[in-house]
Order: sequence, then C-alpha cells, then structure tokens
Amino acid sequence: MTATTRAPAAAPASRYWDVYAAWKADPQTFWGEAAKGLDWFEQPKTVFDEKLGVYGRWFPDGVCNTCYNAIDRHVAAGRGDQDAIIYDSPVTGTKDRITYAQLQHKVATFAAVLAEFGVGKGDRVIVYMPMIPEAAIAMYACARLGAIHSVVFGGFASKELATRINDAKPKLIVTASCGIEPNRVVPYKPLLDEAINLAAHKPETCIVFARPQATAKLTEGRDYDWASEVAKAEAAGKKADCVPVKATDPLYILYTSGTTGIPKGVVRDNGGHMVALHWTMSNLYGIKPGEVYWAASDVGWVVGHSYIVYAPLLAGCTTIIYEGKPVGTPDAGAFWRVVSEYKVAALFTAPTAFRAIKKEDPDAKLLADYDVKCMHTLFLAGERADPDTVMWAERILGVPVVDHWWQTETGWAIAGNPVGLGLLPIKPGSPTVAMPGYDVQVVDEACHPVAVNKMGSIVIKLPLPPGCLPTLWQQDDRFDDSYLHEFPGYYKTADAGFVDEDGYLYIMGRTDDIINVAGHRLSTGGMEEVLASHPAVAECAVIGIKDELKGEVPCGFVVLKAGVTKKPIDIENEIVKLVRDKIGPVAAFKIAITVNRLPKTRSGKILRGTMKKIADGDNWTMPATIDDPGILDEIAEQMKSHGVGA
Ligand code: COA
Ligand code: AMP
Repeated sequence: MTATTRAPAAAPASRYWDVYAAWKADPQTFWGEAAKGLDWFEQPKTVFDEKLGVYGRWFPDGVCNTCYNAIDRHVAAGRGDQDAIIYDSPVTGTKDRITYAQLQHKVATFAAVLAEFGVGKGDRVIVYMPMIPEAAIAMYACARLGAIHSVVFGGFASKELATRINDAKPKLIVTASCGIEPNRVVPYKPLLDEAINLAAHKPETCIVFARPQATAKLTEGRDYDWASEVAKAEAAGKKADCVPVKATDPLYILYTSGTTGIPKGVVRDNGGHMVALHWTMSNLYGIKPGEVYWAASDVGWVVGHSYIVYAPLLAGCTTIIYEGKPVGTPDAGAFWRVVSEYKVAALFTAPTAFRAIKKEDPDAKLLADYDVKCMHTLFLAGERADPDTVMWAERILGVPVVDHWWQTETGWAIAGNPVGLGLLPIKPGSPTVAMPGYDVQVVDEACHPVAVNKMGSIVIKLPLPPGCLPTLWQQDDRFDDSYLHEFPGYYKTADAGFVDEDGYLYIMGRTDDIINVAGHRLSTGGMEEVLASHPAVAECAVIGIKDELKGEVPCGFVVLKAGVTKKPIDIENEIVKLVRDKIGPVAAFKIAITVNRLPKTRSGKILRGTMKKIADGDNWTMPATIDDPGILDEIAEQMKSHGVGA
C-alpha cells in the first residue's frame, strides 16, 4: 500500500495534496525551487545525479556553507539584533540571549581557534557537550570551516565515546567540564580521558569549556581552556570566514544505534540538508522568520541537530537551548514557563516529556500560572505518540498536536501533518501523511505492496530526498547492506506499520532489535553484548518492555554459568552497573532477571517476542516451535518476582 494517494473525501482545504503531487510529478523542479531559498557560492545547476554515490547525490555542483546560511546571511539582511539563541538553564539558574550579530562574532572567533589548532575542511571534530550555547557554537564553527562535527550525547559512557572516536578519528575534541542532571553534576572530563585511553585513535587537541560546577584537569600539551583560547583569538582580532564547500561534502556524522553493538555513523551533507530543513520550517512547521521555535530535546540527538541547531537559524528564527527537564526543574510547569517567557510559537518534543508532565500534574493545574496563547502548535516525534497523550495535550493546550515520524537517518520528517500547507484532519495514533520527497510504501517480505490497513514493513522508494543520509561514514557497503539490500530499489526504515483508507500512516514498532527508551534510540543487541561480557553469564537476552513513562525500558535475562556460587541478586546488581558503565545512564537499564533457561525454538532461536508479551501482560499463545513448553511459566514466575508482567 502506498501512503498518500488522494485527499480524503471530507478533507478541509490544504495545499498538501497539490504540493505532494507536484513533487511526485517532477522532484527535480520541486527541490530546485526549494534550493533557491538559500544562498550559494555557486548555485547548483544539477539538482540530482543518480549516477553519483550509493543511490545518487543532491546538488552535486552546488557550492555553499551551512554556517553562512544559518548566521551570516541573516546579519547581512538586517537581522543582527534579533535573538538567535536563548539559553535557559533551570539546573544552573542561568539565562542568556545571543543575537545573530553576537553569534556571528562568537562562531567566527571559535572557528579561528579551531583553525589555529589545524582544523580545516574535512577534518572531524567530536563535540561532547551538555546543553549550553557553546555546544551549538562549536557545531557552527565546524560548519564554518567545512570541518565535520560529530556530537556525542552526554549520557553515553566512555566506551561508547571511544567507539565513536575510533570511527570518526577526530583531530580535535570539544568538551565541557561537566553536564548537570537534576540530581547530580556529571564531570565530563574524566569520562573523556577514559574514552581517549580506551580508543586506538588519539585526538591531537581537546578544548574544554570550564563551568563553575566542576573543575576539569587539563593534560599539558593536549588540553586547552576554551575561554583562554577565545580571549587570545579576540585579542589578536582573529576571525574565520565561511569556507566554500561542495553541497555533497559532509556537514556532520551522527552515530546511532544499529543492530549490533557498533553504532552507525549517519552522514549528513551540506547542501541537501540545508535545503530540506529550510523547506520544513515554513511548510511543515508553519513557522515564519523572526518567530521563536523550541525543540525541547538535546543537541546529542538528531532532533537537536536539525531543530535546535540548524533549521530554526536557517529560517531566521530564534532557537532555545533549554538545559532542564519537563518535570523536576523545578516542576511540571517548566515547559509552560519557557513557552510564555519567550513567546514560543511552536514546541517540539517527545511524547515521553508530555507523559512525564501528565503524571505529575494530571489536570495541568500549573498551566493556569502561564499565558501560552503564543504557541500555535505542539509537535511530537521520537517514538510512537500514544493517542492518550496526544488527546490529553490537545485538551489542555487547545492547539493542534502534530505527531510526525522520522529517524536519525532521514534528518527530517518522513511523515507529518503539514501545518504550513494547511493542517489535515488529525487522527491520534497516526503521524498523518508522507512528506513531499518521500514515496512511502508498506510491503510484505517479498517487497509486494500489502492491502489497506494491513501491517507490513515500511519502505521508501529510492532516491531518498535531500537531507537524508547519502551513506554511512566511510562504509558504503554497510549502508547498502543495512538499508538497501533487503528491498531492492527501496530504503528499509526498519519500522513496521500500515496505511489506512485515507492514506494515513501508522507506525507500530521496529522490525529489528532497536528499542525506544524515553525517545532515545538504543540497541538491545548492544546491551546483550555487555551482559554477555560478565564472567558469570552463560547466556542472555534483552528485550524492551512497556513502561508508562518512557514508552519502553530494557529488561535483561541471564542464565548463569554452572558452578557460579555468587548470589543471583548480586550478579543482577553488577549487571545493571555494568550497562551503566559501558553504555551509559541513558540506557535506563535497571531490570536484570536470573533465569534457569531461556525459552527457545527447536532451532535455538530465543523467543524474545513471547517473553515481551508475557512481560507486557499481553495475550500470548504457546509457539508451536518451542523446545520446552514448561519454560515459559517458569520465566513468567521469575519475571513476577522482579515486579515484571501482570
Ligand atoms: N548526561 C548525563 N546523564 C544523562 C544525560 C546527560 N546528558 N541525560 C540523561 N542522563 C541520565 C539521567 O540523569 C538518568 O540517570 P539516572 O538513571 O541516574 O536517573 C538516565 O540518564 C536516564 O535519563 P532520562 O531518559 O532522561 O530519564 P529521566 O528519568 O531522567 O527523565 C524524562 C525522564 C521523560 C523526563 C526525560 O527522558 C525527558 O525529558 N525526555 C524528553 C525527551 C527527549 O529529550 N527526547 C529526545 C529525542 S526528541
Ligand atoms: P531516532 O533515530 O532516534 O530518531 O529513532 C527513530 C525511530 O524512532 C523510528 O525508526 C521509529 O521507530 C521511532 N519513531 C520516531 N518518531 C516516531 C513517531 N512519530 N511515531 C512512531 N515511531 C517513531
């Protein structure tokens, strides 16, 4: 079944159907027109060349600079005094505003610092930073130089950071002395030092932004203090200009969970990325230049890259860097405060944030303290938006709640409800329709379209639109193998779902081992590798189980080696700590259960699906292929003893 074939009979006026049809009839003209909204050193003459790259490349002869388009061109056009970034940090009690002109100065100066340390076009720079403006400044500075940034989320442990260092081989790493979680200060420098210790590749330089909450120990000859280096550059009047890069040159690498413990380095190019994001701001989000747009996510995730750092500035808007949580900093009214204080026109967050608010303040009493009339839409993504949460948000806010579906790989929405083109009727549980650029189909294993309302694998007909990954970092073969091989001519999203009679998409879950914990994408395979590394563990399995707040949380099962004398509870605690140390606190791995055996098919495949149904309290039937039927009751009992399952 193909998404979006025609307008539903009673659809209100929306330009969406015509725009989608125009894209489908002539994608090159469509994206060629969209490219005119940006400034180019050399305007692309070719919109798409199918002979280049793995499946073709967008704007191959265009020459541009993403930082120029996000910052400098707005200053040149008279937007210099407008706020570009608002920093609001309830965890430190700090607020700040940076205008476009100030940002241009800060970014050009920091880019000059990076250049002094030898960073240039094509060099990689890892950014391991909390939610402070300096994280975005470091990213723009890389873009300014044509260097490739790779941001690593602060909640990842040293080993994960080391894996990314080995793959990206950065010349330089930018970090801060600490991140701040509501319940603790997280010193970043020891985590970075340990990662560099573990990694085979060693960066030449580290630049450390010192925060008052923790002091970082600097290694002589390798580590430099951000403020001192910036002060030196300023004293010398050093600033770096925007370097012209090919549209197809990489802007960044963002690592995301794959089906093994080794993350995938998603590559984003410069030209296609800026064209696609710029298009979405007006057409999908319905946002005008000068408005305040707030994505309450983290710069370590794709949502943060696209909709905190790049898209709002490409569109001449004000973005908010919020260092806090939806609840507890200080209460469940935090989002309403930020919206009213800065006149936020559109808020974008993950459903889990709203579930957290709903749990603390079910009647949204705290909303009465704030005027949030400025906000015209709430956007949700990152995980399935459950209808309960969508309807609750709609009821308390009285604005459309727009679910939209995308992935790190695509960088922007595959499906959504295009506010700027005219909102389509909302069906809670559906992210609505495919965006122009995406020919989304639901197919069976043989790649044949399935019927309306029938579940299947969701695939996108090649080529992917501008902004989507052209490949994985230096791994064309892995890209082909992971995404393009199984359904020839299509990109495999690894999501399963269906399309209804109105062409609306429903995304029901992953077809691989990825789970979504509080909107964070994690691999159960990666966790199993950690569990298996414990000396007492003979066999293990990790599954994602339902969680009221986080959507899903991981749950591990271990079979101990014969002769192990340690108490199971001690081993379980060690395993929980091991995952926290090796992957990071963000994995939220808190449940480990010792079992005598794992349920398997006669061919030896672990019955994870059935274990999940038992844990979630769903109906389940005895699989015909099970090796030993008695084992499932045994597992159910062991789950119950750990508070898992009905
Ligand atoms: N650095 C260090 N540790 C971090 C971190 C960071 N940047 N971000 C999270 N962590 C830690 C947390 O402190 C927590 O540790 P704990 O086990 O000691 O409590 C753990 O990682 C899990 O964090 P989180 O998933 O954020 O859970 P939480 O219980 O602290 O908060 C929510 C739950 C729902 C409030 C929170 O997940 C949230 O705000 N989600 C918003 C959704 C979002 O940003 N999604 C991103 C994609 S759009
Ligand atoms: P990430 O790469 O971290 O953005 O995670 C992408 C995955 O999150 C997708 O493949 C989906 O499984 C899930 N996801 C993201 N947005 C949605 C949504 N709106 N509805 C359902 N699932 C979603």
